[in-house]
Amino acid sequence: MKNHNKLSRRDFIKTVSIIPPSLSIGMIMKQTQNIKEKARIGVVGVGNRGHFLVDLLTQCSDVEVLAIADIKKEHAERTKLLCEQRQKFSPEIYTNGETDFENLVKRDDIDCVLCATSWEWHTPVAISSMKAGKIAALEVPAAITLKECWKLIETSEKQKQPCFMLENVCYFKEPLTILRMIREGCFGEVVHAEGGYQHDCRFLLADEKGQLNWRGKGIIDRIGNTYPTHPIGPISQWLNINRGDRFTSLYSVSTPPFGIHEYFVKKYGPEHELSRMKVKHGDINTTLLQTFLGKTVTLYHDTSLPRPYDSIFRVQGTKGIYFGSLQKIYLEDVSPQKDAWEDFEPYTKKYAHPIWSAYESAGGSTAGHGLGDFITVRELVRAIRTGQTSLPDVYDSATWSAIIELSEQSASAGGKKVDFPDFTNGRWKTNQPIPIIQLPQQWLSSC
Ligand SMILES: NC(=O)c1ccc[n+]([C@@H]2O[C@H](COP(=O)([O-])OP(=O)(O)OC[C@H]3O[C@@H](n4cnc5c(N)ncnc54)[C@H](O)[C@@H]3O)[C@@H](O)[C@H]2O)c1
Repeated sequence: MKNHNKLSRRDFIKTVSIIPPSLSIGMIMKQTQNIKEKARIGVVGVGNRGHFLVDLLTQCSDVEVLAIADIKKEHAERTKLLCEQRQKFSPEIYTNGETDFENLVKRDDIDCVLCATSWEWHTPVAISSMKAGKIAALEVPAAITLKECWKLIETSEKQKQPCFMLENVCYFKEPLTILRMIREGCFGEVVHAEGGYQHDCRFLLADEKGQLNWRGKGIIDRIGNTYPTHPIGPISQWLNINRGDRFTSLYSVSTPPFGIHEYFVKKYGPEHELSRMKVKHGDINTTLLQTFLGKTVTLYHDTSLPRPYDSIFRVQGTKGIYFGSLQKIYLEDVSPQKDAWEDFEPYTKKYAHPIWSAYESAGGSTAGHGLGDFITVRELVRAIRTGQTSLPDVYDSATWSAIIELSEQSASAGGKKVDFPDFTNGRWKTNQPIPIIQLPQQWLSSC
C-alpha cells in the first residue's frame, strides 16, 4: 500500500486538532499553511450517486481516489475503471461484504472517506472513518436516528475530526442568491421560510418484480419526513440556524398512504404483496418548525404522488418575499409595481453568489444539478487540501438529519409538539453566521 501522504497528513491532523471541536463550519477547520497538493480520498458506496461523485471529483487533477468499497463488485469495478481512465494508477477495491469498508478506512494514504451508500451505513462509515483519523464526508442524510446524530457529534469532538454532509442544494443557484440577498438586507428581517422535497419517487422504491430496495424499506415503515436535508439545508443557512438562532420545536403531520397504495396496485396488481402491505409512510408530510427567535419554517416531504419536481422555496421578511415555485420576487419600494410579482431571474445576476460566479467563469462541470454538485465536491476538496470549507459541519448535519426522527415522533402522535435538541450545546448563541465566501483566484486555477 502506498504511503506517500503520511507526513502531510500528520501535519494536517495537528493543525485541525488545535481547533476546539465545538466550533462550527468555517471555524472547525483552520486555514493550514501547508496546502496539500492532492486530496486523497477513499469512497464507500459507488452506486448511482457515488459513481457520479467520483466522476466529478476526478475531473480535477488535485484529487486522487485511492480506494473504493462496494458490496456489489460490479459497481466497484465500474468506478475503478473510470478512475483508471482519469488517474495514472488504479484504486484498490474492497468488495468483501458490508463491513469491508473497515479495511478501507484504515489505509494510511487517504485523508478523507466519502460515503454514498444506502442510508443505514452513513453513520457507521463516518464513525469508523473518524476513529481511523480520517475526515468523514457523507451523502444525505448524515444520520437516520437521533442516536446516530449524537454519535456523529460525540465522535467528531472526541476524535477531533470533521464530519461534513454533502448537501448539494446549499450550492444551487437560487438558494445561494437568496443567501446573499438576505445578508445584504434585501428581505429585511426574515420571518418565515418554506421548502420541500417534492419529487415523484415512487419508481425508486422497488424493482420491476416488486421487490423493495433499501430506499423502499427505509421509507415504507416510517411515518414523517424521511428526506429533509435538501430543503432544510439552505433554509437553515438563510435563518442562521446554529449561528444566532436555533430550532426549538417541531410539529409534524402526515396524510395516509393513498398514493403509494394506488401505485403498487396499478404497477404490480391488487394481489401483490406490496399492494396488500400495511404502509406507514404518508403521501405528504408537512412539518412546522419554530426557532428560538420565533421564526417559522414549513417543510414538505411529497414523493408518492404524481407531480413535477418543485422544491417550493419561499422566504419572507419585513421587506419582501421570494417564491421559488413561481420564480418570482416582490420587494417593497424596489419592485416596479406595488404588490405585484416580478421575475427573479435578473436578481440571480445582480446578487450572484461569488462562489457560483467563480465556478461559472472557471467553467465548472454542470452535470447533475447545474453547477451545484460540482461546487459541493470542490468544497470537499478545499476542506481536505486547505482546511477551509463552507460545507455543512457535524452540528448542521445532525440538526438537519434529526428532522427524520423528530417528525416521526410528532406525526405518529398526531402532530404533537416535539422539542428540538440543541446539538451545539449552547454555542449557537455565539457562532457567527456563515460568511459569503470568496474563493482566492489561486484556488480556482488549481482545477
Ligand atoms: N445529494 C443528492 O442529490 C443525492 C442524489 C441521489 C442520491 N443521494 C444519496 O446518495 C446515497 C446513495 O444513493 P444511490 O441512489 O446512489 O443508491 P444506490 O443504491 O445506487 O447506491 C448505493 C451503493 O452503496 C452500496 N452499498 C450499500 N451498502 C454498502 C456497504 N455496507 N459497503 C459498501 N457499499 C455499500 C451498494 O451496493 C450501492 O452500490 C443515498 O444516501 C442517497 O440519499 C443523494
